[in-house]
Amino acid sequence: MENSTAKFIATPLKATTHVNQNEDLIFEKSSPGKRGYKLPPLDVPAVDAAKLLGSSTRADLGVMPELSEIEIVRHFTRLSTWNYAIDLGMYPLGSCTMKYNPRVNEFVSRLEGLAEAHPYQPESLSQGALGIMKLLSECLIEITGMDTITLQPAAGAHGEFTGILLARAYHQSQGNPRRKILIPDSAHGTNPATAAVCGYEIANLKSNAQGMVDIAELERMVDGETAALMLTNPSTIGVFESEIHKIADILHAKGALLYMDGANMNALCGKARPGDFGVDVMHLNLHKTFSTPHGGGGPGSGPVACKKILEPFLPTPVVVTKSDGTLSFDYNRPHSVGRVRAFYGNFGMFVRALAYIQANGPDGLRQTTEDAVLNANYVRAKLEDTFELPFKTRTLHEVVFSDKLQAKNGVKTGDMAKRLIDFGFHPYTVSFPMIVSGAMMIEPTESESMEELDLLVDALKQIAREAAENPEHVLNAPHTTRLSRLDETTAARKPILRWKGPMEDVALGSAAKEW
Ligand SMILES: Cc1ncc(COP(=O)(O)O)c(C=O)c1O
Repeated sequence: MENSTAKFIATPLKATTHVNQNEDLIFEKSSPGKRGYKLPPLDVPAVDAAKLLGSSTRADLGVMPELSEIEIVRHFTRLSTWNYAIDLGMYPLGSCTMKYNPRVNEFVSRLEGLAEAHPYQPESLSQGALGIMKLLSECLIEITGMDTITLQPAAGAHGEFTGILLARAYHQSQGNPRRKILIPDSAHGTNPATAAVCGYEIANLKSNAQGMVDIAELERMVDGETAALMLTNPSTIGVFESEIHKIADILHAKGALLYMDGANMNALCGKARPGDFGVDVMHLNLHKTFSTPHGGGGPGSGPVACKKILEPFLPTPVVVTKSDGTLSFDYNRPHSVGRVRAFYGNFGMFVRALAYIQANGPDGLRQTTEDAVLNANYVRAKLEDTFELPFKTRTLHEVVFSDKLQAKNGVKTGDMAKRLIDFGFHPYTVSFPMIVSGAMMIEPTESESMEELDLLVDALKQIAREAAENPEHVLNAPHTTRLSRLDETTAARKPILRWKGPMEDVALGSAAKEW
């Protein structure tokens, strides 16, 4: 037994065990009077803040942790070593496009004039920032083939919400509000959620055997009550809707709109433009396709591009060029759906995305797409004899296997994903999309070298061998992490979101006790 366990533990090629220090909560490390800073004596008259700010002043700041500078630095540095990050290794999390965030983006976004710009700064002092928004808008319009755009939404799902608000305002302006939205069963989960939040009924559209929209079923379902079809293209199984023109024609013939979830544009950028294949409105995830950080690494950005017919409804303000050639915000938009975000959106993300687009240029973006698709297909070809491939249709930027073969030995997709952690990889996406039972969804992105892809393939092949020869070892994984298998169901159903320690009442104040 000892030998067989050793055989299975010793194999990781990329990962090894490494001392990783324990760390208390920052409140537990606190001791009264410690300081992380030292200020020079005051050499100007003291001002009474309460007099200056009136009732906006808060005198009681509660209990703050008190530590020295080095303790704070070590606290956060130690915690950072418990994390996995794109800068540590591959993140094959399908549907998330976890690509490398180039350092040039970070350099540009930290330039003082951009990082310190204030949203209330006068327009005359903000021409550079407005210019960045305008240029990014033009680039994204060119990439998508659409007519116009708003940069305001703060994430993909927020972009969907904004796009569907535009569609709703359009139908209302036509005197026919319509009540339902069609959504294929292969759609990203945020699509039905968005439609419901915007007050629509959701009609579920079944995929055909290739994982695409069933055209006959679509023709049957589209009627005068259909506001739009929300289509993730390429879909969550990485398949491009080859009959997209026909889909658009069927919708348009009945006065309905085609919404494209463009979060998977990493598979199309520089190769095909949604505006050219009939899409009326779509969102982009800058934090996926255009390399701005995400997944806890930073705020998102979900611009919405649309055709001319939807332009009057765009969120306010929009950037316009005045007659003297200077840039300005136009707030006078009577048909606008209103603001969807404070100020203008996540400006720092605009700077990073534009830096990425300009650093790559048109040919570079096209190459990026080709490399992303090549990498996904390399993984597919290397693993299709090891894991079941439920859809044989050609795929683009991601590949979805299922755990069918391994499940015969009781090993499920989630177990293999946990075991993958032992090999130094972030898990792939587990049990999504829903149309694949036991889905294992892998999206390597263009960032990975062939060497890194080979390590992933080797790791997954070994996990499949373990699933056949020693399933217990996979079922109990991960073995090399700080904590082993956690009870995720209890964590999701009964989360304990606040610290319960000896100083809890002091730290959180009396309100915490009343909860
Ligand atoms: C296809 C698709 N649509 C929508 C979203 C939602 O984007 P966000 O997480 O930024 O809200 C995602 C997220 O990755 C996605 O993959």
